[in-house]
Amino acid sequence: MNVTASAPAKVILTGEHFVVYGEPAVVMAIDCYVHVTVSERLDRAVHIVSDLGISGLYAGNKYSPEKRGPQAENVLRPVNIAAKTVLDLLEKKTGLEIKVDSQIPVAAGLGSSGALAVATVAAVGKLFGTDFSRDELIKLSFDSEKFVHFEPSGIDQTISSSGGVMVYRKGKRPNPIEVKSEIPIVIGNTGVPRKTGDLVNAVRKRLNDFPDVLEPIVHAAGDLSTRAVKALLDGNLKRLGELMSINHGLLSAIGVSNEPLDRLVYAARKAGALGAKLTGAGGGGCMIALSTLEDREKIADAIREAGGATIIAKKTNAGVQVWVNE
Ligand code: MEV
Repeated sequence: MNVTASAPAKVILTGEHFVVYGEPAVVMAIDCYVHVTVSERLDRAVHIVSDLGISGLYAGNKYSPEKRGPQAENVLRPVNIAAKTVLDLLEKKTGLEIKVDSQIPVAAGLGSSGALAVATVAAVGKLFGTDFSRDELIKLSFDSEKFVHFEPSGIDQTISSSGGVMVYRKGKRPNPIEVKSEIPIVIGNTGVPRKTGDLVNAVRKRLNDFPDVLEPIVHAAGDLSTRAVKALLDGNLKRLGELMSINHGLLSAIGVSNEPLDRLVYAARKAGALGAKLTGAGGGGCMIALSTLEDREKIADAIREAGGATIIAKKTNAGVQVWVNE
Protein backbone atom coordinates (compact mmCIF):
# COMPACT_ATOMS: atom_id res chain seq x y z
CA MET A 1 0.00 0.00 0.00
CA ASN A 2 1.12 3.56 -0.56
CA VAL A 3 -0.40 6.84 0.51
CA THR A 4 -0.21 10.31 -1.06
CA ALA A 5 -0.82 13.62 0.68
CA SER A 6 -0.94 17.02 -0.99
CA ALA A 7 -0.64 20.43 0.63
CA PRO A 8 -0.89 23.91 -0.89
CA ALA A 9 1.59 26.78 -1.10
CA LYS A 10 0.68 30.13 0.42
CA VAL A 11 1.04 33.84 -0.15
CA ILE A 12 1.09 36.30 2.72
CA LEU A 13 -1.17 39.17 1.67
CA THR A 14 -0.08 41.35 4.60
CA GLY A 15 1.96 41.07 7.77
CA GLU A 16 4.98 38.77 7.25
CA HIS A 17 7.82 39.33 9.75
CA PHE A 18 5.53 41.50 11.89
CA VAL A 19 3.67 38.25 12.69
CA VAL A 20 6.82 36.99 14.46
CA TYR A 21 6.27 39.83 17.01
CA GLY A 22 2.64 38.97 17.68
CA GLU A 23 0.93 41.15 15.06
CA PRO A 24 -1.80 39.67 12.83
CA ALA A 25 -1.02 38.61 9.27
CA VAL A 26 -3.38 37.74 6.43
CA VAL A 27 -2.43 34.62 4.53
CA MET A 28 -4.01 32.74 1.64
CA ALA A 29 -3.49 29.21 0.31
CA ILE A 30 -2.94 29.06 -3.46
CA ASP A 31 -3.50 26.41 -6.10
CA CYS A 32 0.10 25.23 -6.29
CA TYR A 33 0.85 21.99 -4.44
CA VAL A 34 3.42 19.59 -3.08
CA HIS A 35 2.65 15.85 -3.22
CA VAL A 36 4.30 13.36 -0.89
CA THR A 37 3.89 9.62 -1.48
CA VAL A 38 4.97 7.15 1.20
CA SER A 39 5.16 3.39 1.55
CA GLU A 40 6.67 1.07 4.13
CA ARG A 41 10.18 -0.47 3.91
CA LEU A 42 11.09 -3.54 5.83
CA ASP A 43 14.47 -2.24 7.02
CA ARG A 44 14.47 0.81 9.30
CA ALA A 45 15.89 3.26 6.76
CA VAL A 46 14.13 6.29 5.31
CA HIS A 47 14.76 6.69 1.58
CA ILE A 48 13.73 10.02 0.06
CA VAL A 49 13.54 10.87 -3.64
CA SER A 50 12.71 14.43 -4.65
CA ASP A 51 11.73 15.62 -8.13
CA LEU A 52 14.42 18.27 -7.71
CA GLY A 53 16.80 15.47 -8.75
CA ILE A 54 17.95 14.84 -5.16
CA SER A 55 17.82 11.52 -3.35
CA GLY A 56 19.38 9.91 -0.33
CA LEU A 57 18.98 7.42 2.46
CA TYR A 58 18.80 7.95 6.23
CA ALA A 59 19.80 5.06 8.46
CA GLY A 60 19.10 6.54 11.89
CA ASN A 61 20.70 9.98 11.67
CA LYS A 62 23.36 8.89 9.17
CA TYR A 63 22.75 10.31 5.71
CA SER A 64 24.04 8.61 2.56
CA PRO A 65 23.60 10.76 -0.54
CA GLU A 66 22.59 9.15 -3.82
CA LYS A 67 21.95 12.04 -6.17
CA ARG A 68 23.47 15.55 -5.86
CA GLY A 69 25.98 14.97 -3.06
CA PRO A 70 25.93 15.63 0.71
CA GLN A 71 25.16 19.40 0.49
CA ALA A 72 21.74 18.65 -1.02
CA GLU A 73 20.81 16.95 2.27
CA ASN A 74 19.46 20.31 3.46
CA VAL A 75 16.47 19.78 1.18
CA LEU A 76 15.75 16.23 2.39
CA ARG A 77 16.47 16.58 6.11
CA PRO A 78 13.19 18.40 6.95
CA VAL A 79 11.29 15.53 5.27
CA ASN A 80 13.20 12.98 7.36
CA ILE A 81 12.52 15.00 10.54
CA ALA A 82 8.77 15.15 9.80
CA ALA A 83 8.62 11.43 8.95
CA LYS A 84 10.61 10.41 12.05
CA THR A 85 8.41 12.54 14.30
CA VAL A 86 5.41 10.48 13.21
CA LEU A 87 7.23 7.12 13.33
CA ASP A 88 8.34 7.88 16.90
CA LEU A 89 4.89 9.08 17.97
CA LEU A 90 3.20 5.98 16.58
CA GLU A 91 6.04 3.75 17.89
CA LYS A 92 6.62 2.23 14.45
CA LYS A 93 9.94 0.44 14.10
CA THR A 94 9.95 0.37 10.34
CA GLY A 95 11.46 2.25 7.40
CA LEU A 96 9.88 4.42 4.73
CA GLU A 97 10.09 5.06 1.02
CA ILE A 98 9.20 8.72 0.39
CA LYS A 99 8.71 10.44 -2.96
CA VAL A 100 8.32 14.21 -3.19
CA ASP A 101 6.83 15.97 -6.22
CA SER A 102 6.44 19.71 -5.87
CA GLN A 103 5.10 22.55 -7.98
CA ILE A 104 6.18 25.04 -5.29
CA PRO A 105 9.47 26.90 -5.88
CA VAL A 106 11.89 26.18 -3.00
CA ALA A 107 13.21 28.92 -0.67
CA ALA A 108 11.13 31.54 -2.47
CA GLY A 109 8.60 32.71 0.14
CA LEU A 110 5.69 30.50 -0.94
CA GLY A 111 5.80 28.16 2.04
CA SER A 112 7.32 25.13 0.29
CA SER A 113 8.91 23.74 3.47
CA GLY A 114 5.74 24.18 5.55
CA ALA A 115 3.64 22.45 2.87
CA LEU A 116 6.20 19.66 2.56
CA ALA A 117 6.28 19.12 6.32
CA VAL A 118 2.50 18.92 6.78
CA ALA A 119 2.06 16.69 3.70
CA THR A 120 4.76 14.32 5.00
CA VAL A 121 3.20 14.13 8.46
CA ALA A 122 -0.27 13.53 6.98
CA ALA A 123 0.95 10.85 4.56
CA VAL A 124 2.99 8.90 7.12
CA GLY A 125 0.15 9.10 9.66
CA LYS A 126 -2.36 7.73 7.16
CA LEU A 127 0.03 4.94 6.11
CA PHE A 128 -0.25 3.62 9.67
CA GLY A 129 -4.00 4.22 9.94
CA THR A 130 -3.95 7.60 11.70
CA ASP A 131 -5.82 10.66 10.42
CA PHE A 132 -4.25 13.59 12.23
CA SER A 133 -6.41 16.61 13.04
CA ARG A 134 -5.35 20.02 11.67
CA ASP A 135 -3.95 20.98 15.09
CA GLU A 136 -1.92 17.76 15.24
CA LEU A 137 -0.54 18.32 11.73
CA ILE A 138 0.62 21.80 12.69
CA LYS A 139 2.20 20.60 15.94
CA LEU A 140 3.90 17.54 14.44
CA SER A 141 5.40 19.51 11.54
CA PHE A 142 6.94 22.12 13.84
CA ASP A 143 10.36 20.49 14.33
CA SER A 144 10.78 20.12 10.59
CA GLU A 145 9.93 23.82 10.07
CA LYS A 146 12.30 24.78 12.88
CA PHE A 147 15.17 23.11 11.00
CA VAL A 148 14.44 25.40 8.03
CA HIS A 149 13.29 28.61 9.75
CA PHE A 150 14.85 28.50 13.27
CA GLU A 151 12.00 30.55 14.79
CA PRO A 152 8.86 29.99 12.70
CA SER A 153 5.67 31.78 13.69
CA GLY A 154 3.71 28.72 12.52
CA ILE A 155 1.89 30.62 9.78
CA ASP A 156 3.10 28.41 6.90
CA GLN A 157 2.10 25.02 8.34
CA THR A 158 -1.21 26.45 9.58
CA ILE A 159 -2.39 27.76 6.21
CA SER A 160 -1.04 24.72 4.38
CA SER A 161 -3.00 22.36 6.55
CA SER A 162 -6.28 24.35 6.42
CA GLY A 163 -6.32 26.08 3.02
CA GLY A 164 -8.49 29.17 2.38
CA VAL A 165 -7.74 32.63 3.74
CA MET A 166 -7.06 33.36 7.39
CA VAL A 167 -5.91 35.90 9.90
CA TYR A 168 -2.97 34.36 11.70
CA ARG A 169 -1.65 35.49 15.07
CA LYS A 170 1.23 33.62 16.66
CA GLY A 171 0.07 31.44 19.53
CA LYS A 172 -3.64 32.19 18.86
CA ARG A 173 -6.30 30.14 17.12
CA PRO A 174 -6.22 31.03 13.42
CA ASN A 175 -9.25 32.94 12.27
CA PRO A 176 -10.54 31.77 8.85
CA ILE A 177 -12.08 34.51 6.70
CA GLU A 178 -14.77 33.68 4.23
CA VAL A 179 -13.82 35.52 1.07
CA LYS A 180 -16.43 35.39 -1.67
CA SER A 181 -14.58 37.30 -4.41
CA GLU A 182 -11.72 35.91 -6.49
CA ILE A 183 -8.33 37.14 -5.34
CA PRO A 184 -6.30 37.01 -8.56
CA ILE A 185 -2.61 37.01 -7.78
CA VAL A 186 0.39 37.20 -10.09
CA ILE A 187 3.55 35.90 -8.45
CA GLY A 188 6.95 37.11 -9.59
CA ASN A 189 9.97 35.08 -8.58
CA THR A 190 13.28 36.98 -8.53
CA GLY A 191 15.14 33.65 -8.58
CA VAL A 192 17.38 35.01 -5.80
CA PRO A 193 17.67 32.26 -3.15
CA ARG A 194 17.65 33.19 0.52
CA LYS A 195 17.05 31.68 3.93
CA THR A 196 14.00 32.70 5.94
CA GLY A 197 15.88 32.18 9.22
CA ASP A 198 18.64 34.63 8.19
CA LEU A 199 16.08 37.30 7.31
CA VAL A 200 14.12 36.81 10.54
CA ASN A 201 17.42 37.23 12.45
CA ALA A 202 18.35 40.36 10.46
CA VAL A 203 14.99 41.95 11.26
CA ARG A 204 15.43 41.13 14.95
CA LYS A 205 18.82 42.85 14.91
CA ARG A 206 17.43 45.98 13.22
CA LEU A 207 14.60 46.09 15.77
CA ASN A 208 17.13 45.83 18.60
CA ASP A 209 19.27 48.59 17.06
CA PHE A 210 16.38 51.03 16.44
CA PRO A 211 13.54 50.07 18.80
CA ASP A 212 12.00 53.55 19.01
CA VAL A 213 11.89 53.91 15.24
CA LEU A 214 10.77 50.41 14.31
CA GLU A 215 8.34 49.38 17.05
CA PRO A 216 5.68 51.84 15.81
CA ILE A 217 6.16 50.34 12.32
CA VAL A 218 5.54 46.84 13.70
CA HIS A 219 2.26 48.03 15.27
CA ALA A 220 1.29 49.97 12.13
CA ALA A 221 1.70 46.73 10.17
CA GLY A 222 -0.66 44.97 12.58
CA ASP A 223 -3.21 47.74 12.13
CA LEU A 224 -2.76 47.48 8.37
CA SER A 225 -3.58 43.74 8.46
CA THR A 226 -6.78 44.45 10.39
CA ARG A 227 -7.79 46.93 7.66
CA ALA A 228 -6.86 44.40 4.98
CA VAL A 229 -9.30 41.91 6.54
CA LYS A 230 -12.09 44.48 6.30
CA ALA A 231 -11.21 45.20 2.66
CA LEU A 232 -11.32 41.45 1.93
CA LEU A 233 -14.68 41.02 3.66
CA ASP A 234 -16.08 44.04 1.77
CA GLY A 235 -14.71 42.63 -1.52
CA ASN A 236 -12.84 45.93 -1.94
CA LEU A 237 -9.79 44.76 -3.89
CA LYS A 238 -8.69 48.30 -4.74
CA ARG A 239 -8.31 49.09 -1.06
CA LEU A 240 -6.67 45.73 -0.35
CA GLY A 241 -4.15 46.45 -3.12
CA GLU A 242 -3.34 49.85 -1.67
CA LEU A 243 -2.78 48.31 1.75
CA MET A 244 -0.50 45.65 0.21
CA SER A 245 1.61 48.38 -1.41
CA ILE A 246 1.88 50.25 1.90
CA ASN A 247 2.88 46.94 3.51
CA HIS A 248 5.74 46.65 1.01
CA GLY A 249 6.99 50.04 2.22
CA LEU A 250 6.93 48.86 5.84
CA LEU A 251 8.83 45.70 4.86
CA SER A 252 11.45 47.88 3.13
CA ALA A 253 11.79 49.87 6.35
CA ILE A 254 12.66 46.74 8.32
CA GLY A 255 15.25 45.84 5.69
CA VAL A 256 13.85 42.82 3.82
CA SER A 257 13.23 44.21 0.35
CA ASN A 258 16.00 44.60 -2.20
CA GLU A 259 16.56 45.74 -5.76
CA PRO A 260 15.42 42.56 -7.57
CA LEU A 261 12.17 42.54 -5.56
CA ASP A 262 11.58 46.27 -5.99
CA ARG A 263 12.15 45.98 -9.74
CA LEU A 264 9.34 43.39 -10.04
CA VAL A 265 7.06 45.27 -7.63
CA TYR A 266 7.36 48.50 -9.63
CA ALA A 267 6.96 46.71 -12.97
CA ALA A 268 3.70 45.14 -11.71
CA ARG A 269 2.35 48.44 -10.40
CA LYS A 270 3.20 50.18 -13.68
CA ALA A 271 1.32 47.47 -15.58
CA GLY A 272 -1.83 48.21 -13.56
CA ALA A 273 -1.60 45.98 -10.47
CA LEU A 274 -4.02 47.03 -7.72
CA GLY A 275 -1.12 46.57 -5.31
CA ALA A 276 2.22 44.80 -5.16
CA LYS A 277 4.57 43.69 -2.41
CA LEU A 278 7.17 41.11 -1.54
CA THR A 279 5.72 37.97 0.03
CA GLY A 280 7.28 35.72 2.67
CA ALA A 281 10.67 36.52 4.13
CA GLY A 282 11.98 38.79 1.33
CA GLY A 283 15.67 39.26 0.55
CA GLY A 284 14.92 37.61 -2.81
CA GLY A 285 12.30 34.96 -3.47
CA CYS A 286 8.87 36.14 -4.58
CA MET A 287 6.69 39.22 -4.82
CA ILE A 288 2.94 39.22 -5.42
CA ALA A 289 0.73 41.55 -7.41
CA LEU A 290 -3.01 41.82 -6.79
CA SER A 291 -4.77 42.01 -10.13
CA THR A 292 -8.19 42.10 -11.71
CA LEU A 293 -9.01 38.89 -13.63
CA GLU A 294 -8.55 40.76 -16.93
CA ASP A 295 -5.14 42.28 -16.17
CA ARG A 296 -3.32 39.14 -15.02
CA GLU A 297 -1.54 38.37 -18.31
CA LYS A 298 -0.50 42.00 -18.81
CA ILE A 299 0.99 42.13 -15.30
CA ALA A 300 2.70 38.75 -15.76
CA ASP A 301 4.26 40.00 -19.03
CA ALA A 302 5.59 43.10 -17.28
CA ILE A 303 7.10 41.02 -14.45
CA ARG A 304 8.77 38.69 -16.95
CA GLU A 305 10.14 41.65 -18.88
CA ALA A 306 11.62 42.94 -15.62
CA GLY A 307 13.42 39.59 -15.16
CA GLY A 308 11.04 37.55 -12.97
CA ALA A 309 9.56 34.10 -13.50
CA THR A 310 5.79 34.17 -13.05
CA ILE A 311 2.99 32.04 -11.67
CA ILE A 312 -0.65 33.07 -12.02
CA ALA A 313 -2.37 31.82 -8.89
CA LYS A 314 -5.69 31.84 -7.16
CA LYS A 315 -7.06 31.02 -3.75
CA THR A 316 -7.69 27.41 -2.90
CA ASN A 317 -9.88 26.20 -0.07
CA ALA A 318 -8.16 22.81 -0.14
CA GLY A 319 -5.78 22.25 2.75
CA VAL A 320 -3.99 18.95 3.24
CA GLN A 321 -5.62 16.10 1.34
CA VAL A 322 -4.70 12.45 1.80
CA TRP A 323 -5.55 9.37 -0.23
CA VAL A 324 -4.63 5.70 -0.27
CA ASN A 325 -3.41 4.54 -3.69
CA GLU A 326 -3.55 0.76 -3.46
C1 MEV B 1 7.57 33.22 6.33
O1 MEV B 1 6.65 32.69 5.39
C2 MEV B 1 7.01 34.39 7.04
C3 MEV B 1 7.89 35.03 8.11
O2 MEV B 1 7.01 35.94 8.80
C4 MEV B 1 8.47 34.04 9.08
C5 MEV B 1 7.41 33.35 9.95
O3 MEV B 1 6.35 33.92 10.19
O4 MEV B 1 7.71 32.23 10.42
C6 MEV B 1 9.01 35.85 7.50
